[in-house]
Amino acid sequence: RAKRPAGAPDRKLARPVTKVGIIGAGLMARQFALLFVRRLQVPVLLTDINQERLDLALAYIHDQIATLKEKGRIGDDEAKRLNALVSTTTNLSDFSDADWVIEAIFEELTAKQDVFADVEKYAPDSAIFATNTSSLSVDAIGSKLLHPERLVGFHFFNPVAVMPLLEVVRASKTDDAALATAMDTAKALQKSAVITTDSPGFVVNRLLARLLGEAMHAIDNGTPLAVIDGGLKPFGLPMTPCELLELVGLKVGAHVLDTHYAAFPDRFYRSDNLHALADHGKLLARDKKGAVTGFDKGAEA
Ligand code: CAA
Repeated sequence: RAKRPAGAPDRKLARPVTKVGIIGAGLMARQFALLFVRRLQVPVLLTDINQERLDLALAYIHDQIATLKEKGRIGDDEAKRLNALVSTTTNLSDFSDADWVIEAIFEELTAKQDVFADVEKYAPDSAIFATNTSSLSVDAIGSKLLHPERLVGFHFFNPVAVMPLLEVVRASKTDDAALATAMDTAKALQKSAVITTDSPGFVVNRLLARLLGEAMHAIDNGTPLAVIDGGLKPFGLPMTPCELLELVGLKVGAHVLDTHYAAFPDRFYRSDNLHALADHGKLLARDKKGAVTGFDKGAEA
């Protein structure tokens, strides 16, 4: 018999997930929508602050479903069914029958607290709430909820379709039903879940922040890109530190470094330069084929 992961509660406590609500339509949220319809085959409703953002997310999802069809991973009927399962709304009252709600908006504590407090007005009492925060405290995010015991951390890695790991964060108030539902959902999504405590960066970002922080420290102190990034390719990491920073997004990367520095200033590095680059939007300049040619001009300024 398969062993239950360390700290996992009894599976019998898990609640069924028949409709998924996703708060946010950005880089991660739109990838969740695709994963949830594909693996759970249930309706998925995305919400964001305006319809333009939702339309961009829908275009991405339709495009990815078309790619899966082209690759022969799904047939025509399946593609049509998956497309039909995704819908959008700008009105949180449409979450009235969502039994699993996952949030993936920008990393700002008050914004996350407020949106969950709003969702709680409309979602069923039995609904489980999940946050994809990468480095904020899950307890703090749930502090404006009437029922914080229903909130669990559910932290994916980018690219969501490809990365097999998922961190399930048990905050101090998370109850067994929320944790069991999260573990069941992770399994249905075909991810390997590890249960972590609610501490800064959980497990993975605690490790990654050291790597990315050291890379930024080297860059900020004049180490050439050819050494710190391109030069590291033969080390065998799937991506170099700068490529990884671009993948996760410079704003998210800067935020992750800040959070770790705030919690453990003697062990982590934060970079003002990375914040400036995040405003500029790019770190690496590439040629037409996508090969890295150096720092982006803005980065050198
Ligand atoms: N979206 C969807 N699918 C993608 C993708 C993307 N952005 N990038 C690659 N893929 C898919 C490809 O389509 C391909 O799928 P098929 O096999 O179905 O064709 C598959 O992944 C492999 O792609 P490639 O052969 O092109 O690429 P690769 O072998 O170079 O692997 C990679 C690509 C998996 C992204 C690899 O470079 C990798 O593992 N990189 C490290 C990623 C990582 O560490 N992510 C964690 C970041 S931290 C984070 O997200 C959390 C946080 O809180 C900051």
